[in-house]
Amino acid sequence: MKNLQKWFITVLFLTIASLKNVSGAFVGINIGSGVSDLPWASNIVAILKSHQINHVRLHDANPHMLQALSNTGIEAIVGVPDEEILKIGESPSVAASWISKNVAAYMPHTNITTIALGSEVLTSIPNIAPVLVPAMSHLYSALVASNLHFRVKVSTPQSMDLIPKPFPPSTASFNSSWNSTVYRILQFLKNTNSSYMLNAYPYYGYTKGDGIFPIEYALLRSLPSDKKIVDPNTLFRYDSMFDAMVDATYYSIKDLNFNDIPIVVTESGWPRLGGSNEPDANVENAEAYVNNLIRRVLNDSGPPSQPNIGITTYLYELFDEDKRIGPISERHWGLFHTTNGSSVYPLSFGGSDQIFGNSSKSFCVAKDGADAEKMEAGLDWACGQGRANCAAVQAGRPCYFPNNVKSHASYAYNDYYQKMRSVGGTCDFDDTAIITTEDPSYGSCIYTGSSNASTGSGESFSSMALGPVGPVDASLRMQVSSLHYVFSFMSILLALMLL
Ligand SMILES: *[C@@H]1O[C@H](CO)[C@@H](O)[C@H](O)[C@H]1NC(C)=O
Ligand SMILES: *[C@@H]1O[C@H](CO)[C@@H](O)[C@H](O)[C@H]1NC(C)=O
Ligand SMILES: *[C@@H]1O[C@H](CO)[C@@H](O)[C@H](O)[C@H]1NC(C)=O
Ligand SMILES: *[C@@H]1O[C@H](CO)[C@@H](O)[C@H](O)[C@H]1NC(C)=O
Ligand SMILES: *[C@@H]1O[C@H](CO)[C@@H](O)[C@H](O)[C@H]1NC(C)=O
Ligand SMILES: *[C@@H]1O[C@H](CO)[C@@H](O)[C@H](O)[C@H]1NC(C)=O
Ligand SMILES: *[C@@H]1O[C@H](CO)[C@@H](O)[C@H](O)[C@H]1NC(C)=O
Ligand SMILES: *[C@@H]1O[C@H](CO)[C@@H](O)[C@H](O)[C@H]1NC(C)=O
Repeated sequence: MKNLQKWFITVLFLTIASLKNVSGAFVGINIGSGVSDLPWASNIVAILKSHQINHVRLHDANPHMLQALSNTGIEAIVGVPDEEILKIGESPSVAASWISKNVAAYMPHTNITTIALGSEVLTSIPNIAPVLVPAMSHLYSALVASNLHFRVKVSTPQSMDLIPKPFPPSTASFNSSWNSTVYRILQFLKNTNSSYMLNAYPYYGYTKGDGIFPIEYALLRSLPSDKKIVDPNTLFRYDSMFDAMVDATYYSIKDLNFNDIPIVVTESGWPRLGGSNEPDANVENAEAYVNNLIRRVLNDSGPPSQPNIGITTYLYELFDEDKRIGPISERHWGLFHTTNGSSVYPLSFGGSDQIFGNSSKSFCVAKDGADAEKMEAGLDWACGQGRANCAAVQAGRPCYFPNNVKSHASYAYNDYYQKMRSVGGTCDFDDTAIITTEDPSYGSCIYTGSSNASTGSGESFSSMALGPVGPVDASLRMQVSSLHYVFSFMSILLALMLL
């Protein structure tokens, strides 16, 4: 009897647990390509792993990145750049070769889960809108032909600007000029079980709102009790503009008579620096927004109208894209330094570190592709003046093999860093070193600061060391500057007054 009860309780628990995990929303990150000093692909992967980031969105199909992501467990969205959409839309054979070159060639070692066409095509380059759905269909057919369609989805990220009046969410609808295109996109997504991709920027909603919204609402902070934002039709209360944007999109989809198309937020973030006319782009706001957003997403609840569909979100973005045009804020959305992979402001990832790790334990290792002479000098310096204990890399000792400068430098850099960090020692060595939270120990070679006196843990390091050689193709991809998104002032005023 007791056992039966126990069994029943266990089953109940499992059921609750699995219901709660139905959506399993996660936080991923965008990797833009407009970065002049983009680290080598294998170093980017090391940065991702050190922060336990398991989902990325590439804005193109960079071969070095796709190669470096192989066997890492990191899932990737690959992008079809705007300028390639036209040809793919016009020709099934171009689509087929795109899939074979950029997707099939890397599967299954690189886990490509989705192909994202363009960047906000309907609002930023409307002239190619007519070929958007044909391009999606051609890519899908090519996936079917390669038998990859059960693993790889196809979608297209769109801007909030497609929804002219997002508040109140319950009455939102797509700009009717786009009816037929949006209808065909939704039909495609529905037929292929794919998600609607939304770029949602409360930063623009707030700054274009000219002070009509409380900043707390934009930053996902709790609202003062006298300012509750409620949809007058549904009486749903919106604690954040982020939730309101996602819900406005769900209602717009419903308005065209579609349902069961989940939304994934392919971009959201906050710039940490702007020009003198962009006072809201600052570190305090960026830090608050990004940390609150991460907490919001990992909570795994949906927006008020879809409480069971978590809001998977890709943060914008890994590094500052200094090559982007437009206002100063455009170039300051990055979360991590390209030089050493540490975060530009403190990021905390809720109670459980399940997506991003606690970077309290970090190691300093030699960078892939760094200048060999500088690295040799760094190794000499660390073992000499730097007083690192380099005994372990001498012949016959555990860290002697692999016998090369990079491996020895990693050991020496790290020993120095562990001993000197507390008194200001840095992980730089003339730009030949990088911080990782992944323990680089392998076999009996145990790095200073490793919590593991046992063997193992070499895998990640070797996959990093075996990464491709050759710089990341940093081909300039001009992105049309994000279009801005304006809430309807009247309706929000109305909602505010109702309370
Ligand atoms: C790839 O990602 C999908 C989606 O999360 C997952 O189901 C699958 O197990 C992954 N495949 C590999 C080889 O990691
Ligand atoms: C709807 O889209 C059209 C075409 O892009 C644009 O001219 C119009 O201003 C938009 N309408 C609203 C209400 O934003
Ligand atoms: C777009 O769709 C809406 C809702 O179905 C409809 O009211 C509107 O007339 C349509 N507009 C155009 C231009 O087809
Ligand atoms: C979509 O999902 C349904 C139900 O899960 C399934 O029957 C169908 O085969 C799927 N279609 C595609 C194209 O994946
Ligand atoms: C998750 O978020 C929802 C909506 O914002 C909120 O009502 C709920 O209390 C949150 N749950 C936790 C555990 O934070
Ligand atoms: C990483 O590099 C940036 C500048 O590129 C520097 O400001 C920061 O202090 C460095 N962080 C660490 C932990 O070395
Ligand atoms: C995470 O880091 C914080 C601050 O560095 C530290 O207080 C905490 O103990 C760490 N947690 C774990 C699980 O390592
Ligand atoms: C530490 O050792 C344990 C087994 O002894 C292993 O499971 C774990 O992956 C190791 N972790 C690191 C960081 O080396």
